[in-house]
Amino acid sequence: MNKPKLCVAGASGLVGSNIVKAALAAGYDVHGTMRDATDETKRPWLMALPGAAERLTLHSAEAETGAGFDAALSGADAVFIACFPPIYRGRDGTPARELDAQRGFDEIVRPVRDGCLNVLAAAERQGVRTVVLCSSTSSTNPPVPVAVKTEANAVSDPDQQMADGKFTSAEKIVMERAAAEFCAAHAMRLAILLPTMMLGPVVLPQHLDGDSMALPTGLLAGRKRHERVPAGSISLSHV
Ligand SMILES: NC(=O)c1ccc[n+]([C@@H]2O[C@H](COP(=O)([O-])OP(=O)(O)OC[C@H]3O[C@@H](n4cnc5c(N)ncnc54)[C@H](OP(=O)(O)O)[C@@H]3O)[C@@H](O)[C@H]2O)c1
Repeated sequence: MNKPKLCVAGASGLVGSNIVKAALAAGYDVHGTMRDATDETKRPWLMALPGAAERLTLHSAEAETGAGFDAALSGADAVFIACFPPIYRGRDGTPARELDAQRGFDEIVRPVRDGCLNVLAAAERQGVRTVVLCSSTSSTNPPVPVAVKTEANAVSDPDQQMADGKFTSAEKIVMERAAAEFCAAHAMRLAILLPTMMLGPVVLPQHLDGDSMALPTGLLAGRKRHERVPAGSISLSHV
C-alpha cells in the first residue's frame, strides 16, 4: 500500500515545519511548500528532520498567484494550509490600523482571501478532497464580548472588524468563509483550526525571532515587554 501523502503549505513556518516533522514521524510522504524551496537558510533544517531524506520533497509555491501549488499538491491525500501569517502593514509599510477601508481590504484582507482560494483551487484541480486550514482566534471575537465562548457565539463579525480598522483580524474570518464556501461547492472536506498564540519547539532557528517565540526568547534575553506588570492574561497553546 502507498504511504499517505500530505502537502504542507507553509512548510518553512513555525506551524508548518512542526506539521512536517509530525507527519514524517507518522510515516507520511510529505510535500512541503515555501516561496523559495532553494533557500539555504531554511531548506537544510527541514531536510535534516528524521525521514526527510526519504520522504520530504520541498516545492517553491507563491499563494498570491497560486504558482507552484499544483505540483506540490499532485498526488496528495490532504493539504494542511499554514501559509497565511497575519499581515500587519500595508504595501508601503503603513501600519494596518492606519489604513482606510479600501486600502485595508485591498492590501490586507483580499490578498489572504484570494491567496487561500488559489491554494484551494489547485487542490481541487489535483483531486485533493481533505483540507486543514490553520487560521486564528482572531476569528473568535464577537462585537459584544460573551462571558463564556462557544463555537456558536464566539464568531467575529468581519464587517465590524474592518469598520474598526482591525484588518489584520478580519483577514482570517474572511479567508475562512471563502474557504468554507469553496469547499462546500467542490465537495471538499474542510477543518479549520483557530489556535491562540503558539509556543514550542522550533525546527528552523529563525522562528526564535518570529512573532510568537520572540515573547519567551525576549524574556530570557532580559528584554522588557512592559514597563509595569500588566493586569491581564494571554492565551497560549503548544505548537
Ligand atoms: N505562530 C502563532 O503563534 C500563531 C498563532 C495563531 C495562529 N497562527 C496561524 O498559523 C498559521 C501559520 O503561522 P506561522 O506562525 O507558522 O507563520 P510563519 O512562521 O510566518 O510561516 C508562514 C509560512 O507561510 C509561507 N508563506 C508566507 N507568505 C507566503 C506566500 N505569499 N505564498 C506562499 N507561502 C507563503 C512562509 O514561507 P517562506 O517565508 O519561507 O516563503 C512560511 O512557510 C497562520 O495562519 C497564523 O495566523 C499562528
